Amino acid sequence: MAKKADTVFVCQECGYESPRWMGKCICGAWNSFVEEKVHKETEGASRGRRQSGRDSSAKSAAPVRASEITSSQAGRVDTGIGELNRVLGGGLVQGSLVMISGEPGIGKSTLIIQAAAHISRTVGTVLYVSGEESAEQIKMRADRVCGGPLDDLYILAENEMGAVLEAIDRLDPKFLIIDSIQTVYSDEFESAPGSVSQVRAVGNILLSIGKGRGIPVFIVAHVTKSGELAGPRIVEHMVDAVLQFNGERSQDLRILRAVKNRFGTTSEIGAFEMREEGLAEIDNLSGSFLEGLDESSEGAVATAVYEGTRPLLLEIQALTAATNIGFARRTAIGINANRLSMIIAVLEKKSGMTLINRDVYVNIVGGLHPEGTTTDLAVAVAVWSAEKGVRISPDTLYIGEIGLTGDLRPVMNAEKLVKEAARMGFSRVVLPKRSAERLQNVPGSIKLIPATSLADAISTASSQSQHRG
Ligand SMILES: Nc1ncnc2c1ncn2[C@@H]1O[C@H](COP(=O)(O)OP(=O)(O)O)[C@@H](O)[C@H]1O
Ligand SMILES: [Mg+2]
Ligand SMILES: [Zn+2]
Repeated sequence: MAKKADTVFVCQECGYESPRWMGKCICGAWNSFVEEKVHKETEGASRGRRQSGRDSSAKSAAPVRASEITSSQAGRVDTGIGELNRVLGGGLVQGSLVMISGEPGIGKSTLIIQAAAHISRTVGTVLYVSGEESAEQIKMRADRVCGGPLDDLYILAENEMGAVLEAIDRLDPKFLIIDSIQTVYSDEFESAPGSVSQVRAVGNILLSIGKGRGIPVFIVAHVTKSGELAGPRIVEHMVDAVLQFNGERSQDLRILRAVKNRFGTTSEIGAFEMREEGLAEIDNLSGSFLEGLDESSEGAVATAVYEGTRPLLLEIQALTAATNIGFARRTAIGINANRLSMIIAVLEKKSGMTLINRDVYVNIVGGLHPEGTTTDLAVAVAVWSAEKGVRISPDTLYIGEIGLTGDLRPVMNAEKLVKEAARMGFSRVVLPKRSAERLQNVPGSIKLIPATSLADAISTASSQSQHRG
């Protein structure tokens, strides 16, 4: 069959195709169109199905009674890494496509080789395809972080999908890893690796391999500094789960979270420490974020959030400084910028503090981005503390949502947060009165300080804080 090449302009952000160049895409991105040569027929996908041998469409053509579907088809593969299993929703689902994204050097390959080693020892053949590194480099990492023999772990340093498909047919792996999607390509397409056409083609091939063979497939993807996928967003729509691996390269803490998961919640996080011998799971997660609080200065406040199925204590840091020119800056790391503006507005109104000519910076220590509004009160108290130059007692924890009128609203799971605070050695928790009233079993070591409003909480903070001498 003669291949008919065609040229289209493809938005690298969302994958939208246009016959002519456009300055602005329908997704809102500017200058995101790149000219790509695309074959009219989706060759890559059909080729992937052909070569992977077991065509998913053939297999699933006949409807099956729900009661006859064995649960093993939805069975989970234990990765041997509890924190990874947790974020996945209880291990890897057979036939699923999972993407892990993160900045270069954060530890994606390390995490995956550790899981690959475990699965190769417990389940069977694992194929690790790398378009990034040589087989020797991967072997060195495996020797460093996995230990012991790796007889069923196969490494293939290859960029071209045709060769990958041959290896899959030969090895019949029980788990497949592609590191990374931006470095592999299908020679059925002329566009460059990492472009929308290539990523879509490779994604389709991997999808049919995973579904057709009923094995989990893991895809590594790079993101740029700004957190965007360097390649197109389109992979996110194709895969069953998207995991983000974050952390500061200068620090050892690494946080794994699901931003999409068809087989579990997206609120679970996994925590690791990067060590010479690989990624170690962190059991006492709360402690990791509070290390600096003992010597805390103005602007540091402890708070707690409920992430997934467990409570987590956090440190909020705030800094205020005179505005140089023009508008005062509000810089939020780890919390929503609009939320910070609202909290500052309420704080100004209710505490009489003026921040109009002050830059305000707020940071959640450890690179976390907790969801929800439980941290509102601690953010407000941290900004207040920074601006007043008043130290907040480090054994006091602040939780509560702030309403526009300055009232404090109850938080979910308050009892679990208070218990975690007690476990971590805090002696006081300032919390919304309505949350305090609902608590049943308060540990004896904790004193609850109920507050009805932000002003109420600030006057408590004021009476307990220490002015720097
Ligand atoms: N010999 C080593 N000893 C200790 N840590 C190492 C060593 N080599 C690499 N690392 C750690 O591994 C990180 C790279 O991990 P890697 O899994 O390759 O990241 P990614 O795949 O996300 O780019 C480095 O930033 C470093 O922290
Ligand atoms: Mg890597
Ligand atoms: Zn677009």
